[in-house]
Amino acid sequence: MTEWRLLVTVGRTQLVDLAQEVQDLPGVGRFRSQLLRDAATGEEFDLVGTPARLLEPTLFDLVADLERGPQAILPRDLAWIVWILGLEPGDTVIEGGAGSGALTLALARIVVPDGRVISYEPRLSHRRILERNLQRSPHAARVKVVPQELTPDSEPAFCQALVLDVPQPWELVSWATTTLESGGRLVAYLPTTGQVMQLLAQLEGWSDQRVVENIQRDWTTRSQALRPQSRMQGHSGFIISARHYT
Ligand SMILES: C[S@@+](CC[C@H](N)C(=O)[O-])C[C@H]1O[C@@H](n2cnc3c(N)ncnc32)[C@H](O)[C@@H]1O
Repeated sequence: MTEWRLLVTVGRTQLVDLAQEVQDLPGVGRFRSQLLRDAATGEEFDLVGTPARLLEPTLFDLVADLERGPQAILPRDLAWIVWILGLEPGDTVIEGGAGSGALTLALARIVVPDGRVISYEPRLSHRRILERNLQRSPHAARVKVVPQELTPDSEPAFCQALVLDVPQPWELVSWATTTLESGGRLVAYLPTTGQVMQLLAQLEGWSDQRVVENIQRDWTTRSQALRPQSRMQGHSGFIISARHYT
Protein backbone atom coordinates (compact mmCIF):
# COMPACT_ATOMS: atom_id res chain seq x y z
CA MET A 1 0.00 0.00 0.00
CA THR A 2 1.22 3.49 -0.79
CA GLU A 3 -0.09 6.79 0.46
CA TRP A 4 1.14 9.67 -1.70
CA ARG A 5 0.99 13.30 -0.64
CA LEU A 6 2.49 16.49 -2.00
CA LEU A 7 5.05 18.05 0.34
CA VAL A 8 5.57 21.77 -0.17
CA THR A 9 8.66 23.38 1.39
CA VAL A 10 10.35 26.67 0.52
CA GLY A 11 11.40 26.51 -3.14
CA ARG A 12 10.55 22.81 -3.56
CA THR A 13 7.49 20.63 -4.13
CA GLN A 14 7.80 16.85 -4.07
CA LEU A 15 5.66 13.74 -3.81
CA VAL A 16 6.18 11.67 -0.66
CA ASP A 17 4.85 8.23 0.24
CA LEU A 18 3.58 8.33 3.83
CA ALA A 19 3.53 4.53 3.93
CA GLN A 20 7.37 4.54 4.11
CA GLU A 21 8.68 4.49 7.71
CA VAL A 22 11.51 6.94 7.03
CA GLN A 23 11.89 9.74 4.48
CA ASP A 24 15.18 10.99 3.07
CA LEU A 25 14.32 14.04 1.01
CA PRO A 26 16.45 16.49 -0.95
CA GLY A 27 16.43 19.88 0.73
CA VAL A 28 14.99 18.48 3.97
CA GLY A 29 17.04 15.46 5.08
CA ARG A 30 16.19 12.23 6.92
CA PHE A 31 13.24 11.98 9.31
CA ARG A 32 10.44 9.65 10.46
CA SER A 33 7.26 9.72 8.32
CA GLN A 34 5.20 10.03 11.51
CA LEU A 35 6.07 13.76 11.41
CA LEU A 36 4.14 13.97 8.14
CA ARG A 37 1.29 11.70 9.27
CA ASP A 38 0.70 14.03 12.24
CA ALA A 39 0.37 17.10 9.98
CA ALA A 40 -3.09 18.44 9.09
CA THR A 41 -3.65 18.65 5.32
CA GLY A 42 -3.04 22.17 3.98
CA GLU A 43 -1.78 23.65 7.27
CA GLU A 44 1.76 24.89 7.77
CA PHE A 45 3.88 22.86 10.21
CA ASP A 46 7.50 22.64 11.26
CA LEU A 47 9.40 19.85 9.50
CA VAL A 48 12.80 19.46 11.16
CA GLY A 49 13.29 23.24 11.14
CA THR A 50 11.71 23.85 7.73
CA PRO A 51 8.22 25.36 7.28
CA ALA A 52 6.16 22.84 5.28
CA ARG A 53 2.66 21.92 4.08
CA LEU A 54 1.12 18.62 2.99
CA LEU A 55 -1.48 18.59 0.21
CA GLU A 56 -3.42 16.01 -1.79
CA PRO A 57 -1.60 15.63 -5.13
CA THR A 58 -3.49 16.73 -8.24
CA LEU A 59 -3.20 15.07 -11.66
CA PHE A 60 -0.75 17.86 -12.58
CA ASP A 61 1.50 16.90 -9.62
CA LEU A 62 1.31 13.17 -10.43
CA VAL A 63 2.21 13.58 -14.09
CA ALA A 64 4.95 16.15 -13.38
CA ASP A 65 6.62 13.68 -11.02
CA LEU A 66 6.14 10.56 -13.16
CA GLU A 67 8.89 7.96 -13.35
CA ARG A 68 9.84 8.08 -17.06
CA GLY A 69 10.37 5.08 -19.29
CA PRO A 70 9.12 5.32 -22.86
CA GLN A 71 8.23 8.81 -24.12
CA ALA A 72 5.29 10.06 -22.04
CA ILE A 73 2.59 12.28 -23.56
CA LEU A 74 3.00 15.94 -22.52
CA PRO A 75 0.29 17.71 -20.48
CA ARG A 76 -0.66 19.98 -23.42
CA ASP A 77 -1.50 16.87 -25.45
CA LEU A 78 -3.05 14.94 -22.55
CA ALA A 79 -5.56 17.74 -22.10
CA TRP A 80 -6.60 17.72 -25.77
CA ILE A 81 -6.79 13.90 -25.94
CA VAL A 82 -9.08 13.70 -22.91
CA TRP A 83 -11.22 16.53 -24.36
CA ILE A 84 -11.58 15.13 -27.86
CA LEU A 85 -12.26 11.60 -26.55
CA GLY A 86 -15.39 13.12 -24.99
CA LEU A 87 -14.91 10.97 -21.90
CA GLU A 88 -17.33 11.12 -19.02
CA PRO A 89 -17.52 9.60 -15.55
CA GLY A 90 -18.54 5.95 -15.87
CA ASP A 91 -17.15 5.46 -19.41
CA THR A 92 -15.00 2.55 -20.50
CA VAL A 93 -11.90 3.49 -22.48
CA ILE A 94 -9.34 1.15 -24.03
CA GLU A 95 -5.75 2.35 -24.23
CA GLY A 96 -3.14 0.76 -26.49
CA GLY A 97 0.43 1.39 -25.42
CA ALA A 98 0.21 2.47 -21.77
CA GLY A 99 3.99 3.02 -21.51
CA SER A 100 4.84 5.10 -18.44
CA GLY A 101 1.16 5.74 -17.77
CA ALA A 102 0.91 9.53 -18.17
CA LEU A 103 -2.22 9.14 -20.29
CA THR A 104 -3.48 6.24 -18.16
CA LEU A 105 -3.54 8.46 -15.06
CA ALA A 106 -5.41 11.21 -16.95
CA LEU A 107 -8.00 8.75 -18.30
CA ALA A 108 -8.56 7.21 -14.87
CA ARG A 109 -9.07 10.68 -13.39
CA ILE A 110 -11.98 11.30 -15.79
CA VAL A 111 -13.84 7.97 -15.66
CA VAL A 112 -14.13 7.84 -11.84
CA PRO A 113 -16.11 6.78 -9.88
CA ASP A 114 -17.20 3.64 -11.74
CA GLY A 115 -15.73 3.78 -15.25
CA ARG A 116 -12.88 1.63 -16.51
CA VAL A 117 -9.54 2.11 -18.26
CA ILE A 118 -8.33 -1.05 -19.98
CA SER A 119 -4.64 -0.48 -20.74
CA TYR A 120 -2.63 -2.79 -22.99
CA GLU A 121 1.14 -2.79 -22.47
CA PRO A 122 3.18 -5.78 -23.74
CA ARG A 123 6.66 -4.82 -22.46
CA LEU A 124 7.50 -6.00 -18.96
CA SER A 125 10.03 -3.21 -18.32
CA HIS A 126 7.42 -0.58 -19.26
CA ARG A 127 4.74 -2.34 -17.20
CA ARG A 128 6.95 -2.19 -14.10
CA ILE A 129 7.25 1.59 -14.46
CA LEU A 130 3.53 1.83 -15.23
CA GLU A 131 2.58 -0.14 -12.10
CA ARG A 132 4.79 2.06 -9.89
CA ASN A 133 3.30 5.23 -11.41
CA LEU A 134 -0.22 3.87 -11.00
CA GLN A 135 0.40 3.31 -7.30
CA ARG A 136 0.63 7.10 -6.93
CA SER A 137 -2.85 7.67 -8.31
CA PRO A 138 -5.91 7.62 -6.04
CA HIS A 139 -7.80 6.30 -9.10
CA ALA A 140 -5.59 3.29 -9.87
CA ALA A 141 -8.43 0.89 -9.04
CA ARG A 142 -10.20 2.07 -12.22
CA VAL A 143 -7.30 0.73 -14.37
CA LYS A 144 -6.91 -2.83 -15.61
CA VAL A 145 -3.48 -3.44 -17.12
CA VAL A 146 -3.49 -6.11 -19.85
CA PRO A 147 0.05 -7.48 -20.34
CA GLN A 148 -0.38 -7.98 -24.09
CA GLU A 149 -0.15 -6.24 -27.43
CA LEU A 150 -3.37 -4.86 -28.82
CA THR A 151 -3.79 -6.69 -32.15
CA PRO A 152 -6.52 -7.08 -34.76
CA ASP A 153 -7.30 -10.40 -32.99
CA SER A 154 -7.65 -8.89 -29.49
CA GLU A 155 -10.90 -9.61 -27.68
CA PRO A 156 -13.33 -6.73 -28.40
CA ALA A 157 -14.61 -5.03 -25.23
CA PHE A 158 -17.57 -2.70 -25.58
CA CYS A 159 -16.20 0.81 -24.97
CA GLN A 160 -17.00 4.48 -25.52
CA ALA A 161 -13.47 5.47 -26.51
CA LEU A 162 -10.23 4.01 -27.79
CA VAL A 163 -6.84 5.70 -27.62
CA LEU A 164 -3.77 4.38 -29.39
CA ASP A 165 -0.20 5.48 -28.65
CA VAL A 166 1.34 2.63 -30.66
CA PRO A 167 3.54 2.77 -33.78
CA GLN A 168 0.99 1.25 -36.23
CA PRO A 169 -2.52 2.21 -35.15
CA TRP A 170 -3.90 1.79 -38.72
CA GLU A 171 -3.66 -2.00 -38.22
CA LEU A 172 -6.26 -1.67 -35.44
CA VAL A 173 -8.87 0.48 -37.21
CA SER A 174 -11.00 -2.40 -38.42
CA TRP A 175 -10.87 -4.01 -34.94
CA ALA A 176 -11.86 -0.62 -33.46
CA THR A 177 -15.18 -0.76 -35.33
CA THR A 178 -16.03 -3.97 -33.47
CA THR A 179 -15.22 -2.62 -30.01
CA LEU A 180 -16.40 1.02 -30.10
CA GLU A 181 -20.02 1.83 -29.37
CA SER A 182 -21.81 3.74 -32.14
CA GLY A 183 -20.56 7.34 -32.05
CA GLY A 184 -17.49 6.35 -30.05
CA ARG A 185 -14.17 8.09 -30.69
CA LEU A 186 -10.79 6.83 -31.66
CA VAL A 187 -7.71 8.93 -30.93
CA ALA A 188 -4.18 8.14 -32.05
CA TYR A 189 -0.95 9.88 -31.16
CA LEU A 190 1.72 9.80 -33.85
CA PRO A 191 5.06 11.60 -34.28
CA THR A 192 5.40 11.69 -38.11
CA THR A 193 3.31 12.79 -41.08
CA GLY A 194 3.87 9.49 -42.91
CA GLN A 195 2.18 7.65 -40.04
CA VAL A 196 -0.67 10.18 -40.01
CA MET A 197 -1.27 9.59 -43.73
CA GLN A 198 -1.36 5.81 -43.28
CA LEU A 199 -3.89 6.15 -40.48
CA LEU A 200 -6.12 8.60 -42.36
CA ALA A 201 -6.21 6.21 -45.31
CA GLN A 202 -7.68 3.54 -43.02
CA LEU A 203 -10.13 5.97 -41.42
CA GLU A 204 -12.01 6.55 -44.67
CA GLY A 205 -15.73 6.53 -43.90
CA TRP A 206 -15.25 7.63 -40.29
CA SER A 207 -16.79 10.96 -39.22
CA ASP A 208 -15.41 14.08 -37.54
CA GLN A 209 -11.81 13.47 -38.56
CA ARG A 210 -9.31 15.91 -37.10
CA VAL A 211 -5.56 16.21 -36.98
CA VAL A 212 -4.19 18.54 -34.33
CA GLU A 213 -0.69 19.56 -33.33
CA ASN A 214 -0.47 21.51 -30.10
CA ILE A 215 2.15 24.21 -29.72
CA GLN A 216 2.71 25.65 -26.27
CA ARG A 217 4.99 28.60 -25.55
CA ASP A 218 5.83 29.12 -21.90
CA TRP A 219 6.66 32.59 -20.60
CA THR A 220 9.04 33.66 -17.87
CA THR A 221 7.13 34.73 -14.76
CA ARG A 222 9.47 37.53 -13.60
CA SER A 223 7.48 40.76 -13.75
CA GLN A 224 10.61 42.75 -14.69
CA ALA A 225 11.17 40.53 -17.72
CA LEU A 226 7.76 39.26 -18.74
CA ARG A 227 8.36 37.60 -22.11
CA PRO A 228 8.32 34.17 -23.81
CA GLN A 229 11.05 31.79 -22.65
CA SER A 230 13.98 31.54 -25.06
CA ARG A 231 13.63 27.77 -25.49
CA MET A 232 10.45 25.84 -26.12
CA GLN A 233 9.51 22.19 -26.50
CA GLY A 234 8.86 21.91 -30.24
CA HIS A 235 7.12 19.02 -31.93
CA SER A 236 5.74 16.24 -29.74
CA GLY A 237 3.06 14.42 -31.73
CA PHE A 238 0.04 14.72 -34.00
CA ILE A 239 -3.29 13.87 -32.42
CA ILE A 240 -5.67 12.24 -34.87
CA SER A 241 -9.29 11.75 -33.88
CA ALA A 242 -12.34 10.32 -35.62
CA ARG A 243 -15.78 8.99 -34.79
CA HIS A 244 -17.37 5.76 -35.85
CA TYR A 245 -21.13 5.14 -36.32
CA THR A 246 -22.57 1.70 -36.89
C1 LIG B 1 5.24 5.94 -26.44
S1 LIG B 1 4.81 4.66 -25.39
C2 LIG B 1 3.30 5.16 -24.64
C3 LIG B 1 3.45 6.28 -23.68
C4 LIG B 1 2.19 6.58 -22.91
N1 LIG B 1 1.10 6.98 -23.78
C5 LIG B 1 2.42 7.65 -21.86
O1 LIG B 1 1.81 8.73 -21.93
O2 LIG B 1 3.18 7.42 -20.90
C6 LIG B 1 4.26 3.41 -26.49
C7 LIG B 1 4.02 2.08 -25.80
O3 LIG B 1 3.29 1.22 -26.69
C8 LIG B 1 3.67 -0.10 -26.43
N2 LIG B 1 3.20 -0.86 -27.61
C9 LIG B 1 3.78 -0.98 -28.83
N3 LIG B 1 2.98 -1.70 -29.65
C10 LIG B 1 1.85 -2.01 -28.94
C11 LIG B 1 0.64 -2.71 -29.23
N4 LIG B 1 0.41 -3.25 -30.43
N5 LIG B 1 -0.30 -2.82 -28.26
C12 LIG B 1 -0.10 -2.26 -27.03
N6 LIG B 1 1.04 -1.59 -26.71
C13 LIG B 1 1.99 -1.47 -27.65
C14 LIG B 1 5.16 -0.02 -26.21
O4 LIG B 1 5.64 -1.11 -25.47
C15 LIG B 1 5.28 1.32 -25.46
O5 LIG B 1 5.32 1.13 -24.07
